[in-house]
Amino acid sequence: MADLVHLAIIMDGNGRWAKARFLPRTAGHLEGLKALKRCISGCISEGIRYLTVYCFSTENWKRPPDEVKYLMALFTNKIYGEIKTLNSLGVSVRLLGNTSNLPPEAVKNLKKAEEETKDNDKITLQLAINYGGYDEIERAVNSLIRDGYKEIDASLIRSRFDNPDIPPVDFIVRSAGEMRLSNFLLFDSAYAELGFYDKLFPDWDEQMIHQIKEDYYKRIRKFGGLA
Ligand code: FPP
Repeated sequence: MADLVHLAIIMDGNGRWAKARFLPRTAGHLEGLKALKRCISGCISEGIRYLTVYCFSTENWKRPPDEVKYLMALFTNKIYGEIKTLNSLGVSVRLLGNTSNLPPEAVKNLKKAEEETKDNDKITLQLAINYGGYDEIERAVNSLIRDGYKEIDASLIRSRFDNPDIPPVDFIVRSAGEMRLSNFLLFDSAYAELGFYDKLFPDWDEQMIHQIKEDYYKRIRKFGGLA
């Protein structure tokens, strides 16, 4: 059985969590951030080396301006504000996604967080912000076209992704009962296992990560071959 090296989470249900408590949707995102911290601790305890989280998709710009603004403020302030904790936990931050239309202050702080955590080796936390699977492939192919390639293959495309050194995802899980990928990791999900959980993301904790790991090890991965 292939080890669970790289877990990815589609953090869904923040809005529903807030609505159930008569709170604004933004309160759900803040609670989601707290759940993310518990998930990082859980991954470290379970020996998972890479965690990728879907924070903002290339389609999320369609949300109400106030919600977008709030999320951008979280990306600008919260990660960099947690540098000390991230360093003490051994978390190395990596940015995944199209930075060209993110607020410059957010990009600056996220890049600083990358730089200041780059030597940590307990876990790599890949933050997918303004990320889209189509966009990732388009940017990679366009960079190959600019370099004059006439023929390309899958490994060449992957080599132009934002973080080609990060191994492909093993298990993609989604909270809040939705069962779709929503343009997440389209290329690298080719042979990933998929898991869908009813619990809303703000309610996730370390135990959830333990459960996810157990579920993963029940899967039989064949990568198109035989078991
Ligand atoms: C989807 O739930 C959630 C998002 C689009 C945002 C996820 C972002 C976070 C958890 C914050 C991460 C912050 C940092 C700084 C890394 P939804 O709002 O679509 O939920 P709903 O379907 O119930 O409305």
